[in-house]
Amino acid sequence: MQEIIRKLDDKREQARLGGGQRRIEAQHARGKLSARERLELLLDEGSFEEWDMFKEHRCTDFGMAAESVPGDGVVTGYGTINGRLVFVFSQDFTVFGGSLSESHAEKICKVMDQAMKVGAPVIGLNDSGGARIQEGVASLGGYAEVFQRNVLASGVIPQISVIMGPCAGGAVYSPAMTDFIFMVRDSSYMFVTGPEVVKTVTHEEVSAEDLGGATTHTTKSGVADLAFDNDVDALAFTRRLFNYLPLSNRERAPVRPTSDPADRLDASLDTLVPANANQPYDMKELILKMVDDGDFFEIQPDYAKNIVVGFARMEGSTVGIVANQPLVLAGCLDIKSSIKAARFVRFCDAYSIPVITLVDVPGFMPGTSQEYGGIIKHGAKLLYAYAEATVPKVTLITRKAYGGAYDVMASKHLRGDVNFAWPTAEIAVMGPKGAVEIIFREEKNDPVKISEREAEYREKFANPFIAGKRGFIDDVIMPSETRKRICRSLAMLRDKQLENPWRKHGTMPL
Ligand code: HXC
Repeated sequence: MQEIIRKLDDKREQARLGGGQRRIEAQHARGKLSARERLELLLDEGSFEEWDMFKEHRCTDFGMAAESVPGDGVVTGYGTINGRLVFVFSQDFTVFGGSLSESHAEKICKVMDQAMKVGAPVIGLNDSGGARIQEGVASLGGYAEVFQRNVLASGVIPQISVIMGPCAGGAVYSPAMTDFIFMVRDSSYMFVTGPEVVKTVTHEEVSAEDLGGATTHTTKSGVADLAFDNDVDALAFTRRLFNYLPLSNRERAPVRPTSDPADRLDASLDTLVPANANQPYDMKELILKMVDDGDFFEIQPDYAKNIVVGFARMEGSTVGIVANQPLVLAGCLDIKSSIKAARFVRFCDAYSIPVITLVDVPGFMPGTSQEYGGIIKHGAKLLYAYAEATVPKVTLITRKAYGGAYDVMASKHLRGDVNFAWPTAEIAVMGPKGAVEIIFREEKNDPVKISEREAEYREKFANPFIAGKRGFIDDVIMPSETRKRICRSLAMLRDKQLENPWRKHGTMPL
């Protein structure tokens, strides 16, 4: 017995060391934590239950039979974050560069399968050289097994990827199919083909960081949601995000008690919208003043900044917020912002998280680059996402709601449950200048007449009352009472039930 226990201890010790002290030190020298250190920071202290610590690869080619490390380059299991169950895998770069073998993939699949059975999220910490080269197609098969599970888990259990090292080739597609991607600056990258191949094929010279680093993916491509300076920050924010989410689509998001009164008024909001309709203001000010304790977890803050999306709480319950940002491109909807918001709305809908939409939108962005890029199809994604969503939808128009963008932004017609407007709202087919230039074209050379027409149009349409007359707006509310009115609406909607007609799936404009 003693002998077996000693053997077990030795095996555990060997597994914990992964690729050995020298490689762990090399990992530290690059500013990266080891796979196990990362899990310690991610999970509640002492909560980690490890599985498959002794699993090894089965490859015998290229001298691999002699080189085997218990655990095979990935640490898997489950634990808790603030007491709530989560399944995890953490790739160990010190073992064959964290590369994915058939066994390594089986370990990941095992936790994903169990997470699906019990209904709990999966968080993957990625740090891998990709497919284990010595294993060939067996490792490609392993990737595809993971991909298949990513897809089946989509909309059933939240999936979060944290990229903490290389992630290249087809390997990027597993994170790409998860719900959120966080990256670490200067130590992580994601690309389909690396700088060398890019140079050969397109003759472009680009560094790994510029091609697929955290900054690139959180500002240019929109592939990743948030970038962090180091592993510690990335993991701390992963815990924060987790706290907003339900464990699965069968449950509600957790409620965090708050001392922030639901009926708190904020007089400063009465002067948020400037008198001049063309002057911008910061929509985030409204968000921070409206939500519990001014606590807002923004998703993709550095990408398509003309729309703001993220999680907050109202009376302790998680809400998703989608808001046009007049500070950037006047809050216009363009390709990137439509895709960003559509994806977010669909996530909220999948996990029964109510959506609050704050509207100040002059319309869709005009121009050849938008039209050639397919703004019609991409804008339709946001329209589709809102129209399909059955979660509680509360909408507030603070200022402009013009044209098709009025319809798209969770209007009454797309089954908005409660649609409010501030007295400063302007709801019409288009702004006064554009409208007058079209309907009074014959007077366009007479500036006095034109400005009279504009004033007439503004008087008639640049207000919330025409929409109010038709019931498209449920009430015109004072800005100061926004929190109170939205909290009440959400409380009323708590047990909302609405189902879309049965279908295999819609044919969303992808
Ligand atoms: C086996 C690998 C490996 C791999 C790295 N290693 N990648 N072993 N299969 N894919 C090993 C190295 O041999 C080395 O072993 C150790 O990991 C660390 O690697 P280094 O090269 O020393 O580290 P570094 O300089 O930091 O470079 C990291 C790297 C580089 C950029 C990831 O290793 C690299 O380019 N690897 C190959 C990447 C690749 O082409 N993968 C296949 C992609 S295609 P020792 O013993 O020396 O410590 C793919 C398809 C997926 O993944 C398809 C899904 C459908």
